[in-house]
Amino acid sequence: MDYNFLKVENHDNGITVVAISVPQSLNALNSKVLSELERFIDNLDISVRVLVITGDGPKSFVAGADISEMKDLNEKGGLSFGQLGAMVFRKIEVLDIPVIAAVNGYALGGGCELAMACDIRIASENARFGQPETGLGIIPGFSGTYRLSKLVGQAFAKEIIYTGRTVKSDEALKIGLVNAVVPQEELLNTVMAMAVKITANAPISVKYAKKSINEGYDLSTAGAIALENEYFAKCFNTKDQKEGMDAFLSKRKASFTNE
Ligand code: HXC
Repeated sequence: MDYNFLKVENHDNGITVVAISVPQSLNALNSKVLSELERFIDNLDISVRVLVITGDGPKSFVAGADISEMKDLNEKGGLSFGQLGAMVFRKIEVLDIPVIAAVNGYALGGGCELAMACDIRIASENARFGQPETGLGIIPGFSGTYRLSKLVGQAFAKEIIYTGRTVKSDEALKIGLVNAVVPQEELLNTVMAMAVKITANAPISVKYAKKSINEGYDLSTAGAIALENEYFAKCFNTKDQKEGMDAFLSKRKASFTNE
């Protein structure tokens, strides 16, 4: 499939890396880029086990939504632009497979929001996070007020959003915005090693674990526990559960078939 703003690498170990590539604007997201990202997500091959999202080039993951496109919007235009990004990011969040953000530089505004829609964030030391929208006369509009509060708690989310300040990678790690920080030259290798570790496990288990965590988060304690129990029970319908346990008891490496 052809893309103008995405560079896609399909590895034969079930890992796909997609890089947002808009060199003239540090990979800012305009509506064409967002629509392309949606088409890419909708057409992801079922053999893909882990998706990695990164930014093209050494300087920026995504420097935000495209300010030149937003400048002249009215309320109706703002509504549809916000809804487009929020919808695409939600598709990423609920994908059946894990999505890892390899944050290789600026992750500002919509870029921070894109990273937060992923399951796991690994950042390079030069990564810079932030929600600078209040300085532009708007607020985060691709679900950032919600997801940042969920990830780092309301106190940090409010401070970061009200001040619009930049959060360096070491602070992002301290407040739980990212899972790890590594030197930039090690970023993709680190992410790929994590992805390979995930692909060694039973794909259906990983999928049910993701669904249980995501869907359970919005429920009461009792509801979340009951939901986990349902997904746990469903695992026993799979060949991979028999294989995983048989392999353990036979002291051999499991060979999962995603059945
Ligand atoms: C449009 C952008 C852009 C953006 C950078 N560029 N970010 N264009 N939208 N978000 C463009 C610049 O205009 C410039 O174009 C080129 O990219 C290189 O950027 P520079 O500013 O020259 O680079 P540098 O000095 O290194 O500064 C990097 C930077 C800065 C700190 C990341 O570019 C910056 O502050 N960008 C804006 C970040 C931001 O506010 N993001 C949030 C957007 S609001 P020219 O043509 O001059 O070379 C948002 C809302 C989401 O994301 C929700 C919407 C519903």
